[in-house]
Amino acid sequence: MPAATKWLVPLRPSGFNVGMTRRRKPPAPRALTPRSADRHALYEASVQRPEVMIGFIEDVAEHHGLTPRVLREDFCGTANLAAHWAASGTDRRAIGIDLDAPVLDWAEQHNRAPLGDAGKRLHLLCDDVRNVRRRGDVLVSLNFSHFIYKRRETLRQYLRHAWRCLNRPGMLILDAFGGPASITPDIDRRNFANFTYLWEQAAFNPITSEILCKIHFQFPNGSMLRDAFVYDWRLWSLPELTELLLEAGFDDLDIYFESEDGFITELDPGDCDAWVAYLVAYKTSPRSSRRTPRRN
Ligand SMILES: C[S@@+](CC[C@H](N)C(=O)[O-])C[C@H]1O[C@@H](n2cnc3c(N)ncnc32)[C@H](O)[C@@H]1O
Repeated sequence: MPAATKWLVPLRPSGFNVGMTRRRKPPAPRALTPRSADRHALYEASVQRPEVMIGFIEDVAEHHGLTPRVLREDFCGTANLAAHWAASGTDRRAIGIDLDAPVLDWAEQHNRAPLGDAGKRLHLLCDDVRNVRRRGDVLVSLNFSHFIYKRRETLRQYLRHAWRCLNRPGMLILDAFGGPASITPDIDRRNFANFTYLWEQAAFNPITSEILCKIHFQFPNGSMLRDAFVYDWRLWSLPELTELLLEAGFDDLDIYFESEDGFITELDPGDCDAWVAYLVAYKTSPRSSRRTPRRN
């Protein structure tokens, strides 16, 4: 496994947290088994850092003099980010949309209800994201959810819908991954206190750019929760995403990469083997220089 894949998506490498202090506590060690494990809790602990993402949104917004209040999280799954956003200020609201009712039930029980009063500022909607017209100041599609769209036309339609669902000035944040190591069939492992997270790149088709990825979890007694999550995606490149965002109506965009120094706008050649990027597309161009957000 090439060295750069220590931060292959969506593993959220240790370096990703450098300089970022508000880190989620690791789950308390207890004996997990495939029967007792909660795959959504394991997923959140393994791949998500909502505090870091909120810091990133705040920094980008502040850099451009924006004050987003309503966050719309498309493909929200457990709505972890939306819940953190709603909890992060009494003037903030969030909308989480997912078409999977069971995952939204989980989100309600584990992420919205525990917020108490702040939970009233989070609205969970069970629907196809393209059917929902609720607007936000910032719209996010994370952990590569938009890679479900395999044709140019369908992805562009989704991006156009996202554009319509943004208040001006408004920004859309999408992530992407790439680099030669990201298309090599492989399994990457990351150890946590009471389980191991496995990210499998099971197959890649160079003709269609379709990629099949899987998340498995392994427990201390060696037992496995296989195929906890399976993703049948198209791996879109940064130039393709850039073109489609502009075709969808966005005025301008910036691209940031995860790095050991936080979010950066250019990759060292030695880090190009595997990378994670965030595209920030603006409904109205802030006419910014391509500076790095401050909290790096
Ligand atoms: C990769 S998960 C992402 C979860 C979360 N956004 C995150 O950052 O971890 C993708 C989610 O998108 C949902 N989904 C797939 N197609 C959808 C659609 N057309 N509309 C709404 N949700 C959809 C799935 O149910 C799943 O929960």
